[in-house]
Amino acid sequence: MLGNFSYLNATKLYFGDNSLEYLNEELPKYGKNVQLIYGGGSVKRNGIYDEVMKILLANGKNVVEDAGVMPNPTVDKLREGVRIARENKVDLLLAVGGGSCCDYAKAVSVSVNCDDDPWDKYYIRFEEPDCEIVPVACILTMAGTGSEMNAGAVITNHEAKLKIGHVFGENVMPKFSILNPKFTFSLPKRQMVAGIYDIFNHICEQYFSGEDDNTSDYIAEGLMRSLIHSSLIAIDDPENYEARSNIMWTATWALNTLISRGKTTDWMVHMLGQAVGAYTDATHGMTLAAVSLPYYRTIMPYGLNKFKRFAVEVWGVDPVGKSDEAIADEGLLAMEGWMKKLGLNMKISELGATPDMIEGIADATIILDGGYKVFTRDDVVKVLTESL
Ligand code: NZQ
Ligand code: ZN
Repeated sequence: MLGNFSYLNATKLYFGDNSLEYLNEELPKYGKNVQLIYGGGSVKRNGIYDEVMKILLANGKNVVEDAGVMPNPTVDKLREGVRIARENKVDLLLAVGGGSCCDYAKAVSVSVNCDDDPWDKYYIRFEEPDCEIVPVACILTMAGTGSEMNAGAVITNHEAKLKIGHVFGENVMPKFSILNPKFTFSLPKRQMVAGIYDIFNHICEQYFSGEDDNTSDYIAEGLMRSLIHSSLIAIDDPENYEARSNIMWTATWALNTLISRGKTTDWMVHMLGQAVGAYTDATHGMTLAAVSLPYYRTIMPYGLNKFKRFAVEVWGVDPVGKSDEAIADEGLLAMEGWMKKLGLNMKISELGATPDMIEGIADATIILDGGYKVFTRDDVVKVLTESL
């Protein structure tokens, strides 16, 4: 295993179908004013809002509502959240929802006590917070992003046509997160599968880098196999607790910084997907699915050994009597078959992208250098065009 690193994960998790009870244990640790952050209303329809509110009131909290966090939260909404937090002197930002609510809470957290505009400071200049942060906690209702146990916060600026993530320090990770797999049962199938592909791709982004023998890769393979297995159960039987709980737990471990230890990591599918998202506002996991195969087929020759290992260890391809290229190809074909079975969008045109957007999306794509091939702008345009 190569690389020098430190490892700490600061988030306490409560997992299982009784996990919300532990909110009673956590709340007394924080001050009276709680900003209750949620999205477009799913938590009201499925009853989670009522359950959470009851516990907050029983613990004597002043609840300040911050509703309407949209999928792919915007910088305008972020500024509104900061204003709410300041006006009410909030002591805890409690996100109840998916990655969007949780990311948004973190972005508010680092901006409440800071004079600069959050977009310029964190998403253009990539500075670190130098002000007091407000603690964040999360009650998760959608499995996918891993935001419940990491310090990432992705914000979209429609005016600038940019969608950018900032990974903050450990102190911005949720102080605690509550993961009840049953809370994900009410997700529409499209969101469930988008989340499943997001999880899978988080693992790929870390796995497809480096040539050394690395424990992180073995863990990644186990996570991928578990996810594939559970996903195939969940698409036929969405209320299968065992499958949904495994998916939820895999999501957390896919992006809680463990499997990136000792890895350079790739993240180019996410850079492409986020740029597509900036232009289309499409569902995050779907943007990743739509660019993945053209991307992986482009980089495969540069990371052939790992793609061969992926085929054999993750997809069970029999390598006997086949060339390395043929084995690697078979692995990607198996992945493609699984993605189609889940019903993912396989083209960015299905998400609203049009040929005239390609140059702009390419401009919005940040190029990273941790993967098997450092892309040129031409490579970006080629992959986007093949994804149309
Ligand atoms: O807004 P409501 O009404 O709550 O509906 C949401 C939303 O429409 C709905 N939903 C969530 N839980 C539900 C439910 N509907 C019914 N029942 C439930 N239990 O699902 C829709 C999508 O929710 P959202 O939070 O947007 O999804 P997701 O968890 O995929 O989060 C996406 C955001 O996270 C960012 C993405 O870029 C995107 O902005 N990411 C964050 C990362 C991180 N923090 O590390 C990494 C990821 O790669 C990703 O970039
Ligand atoms: Zn993602």
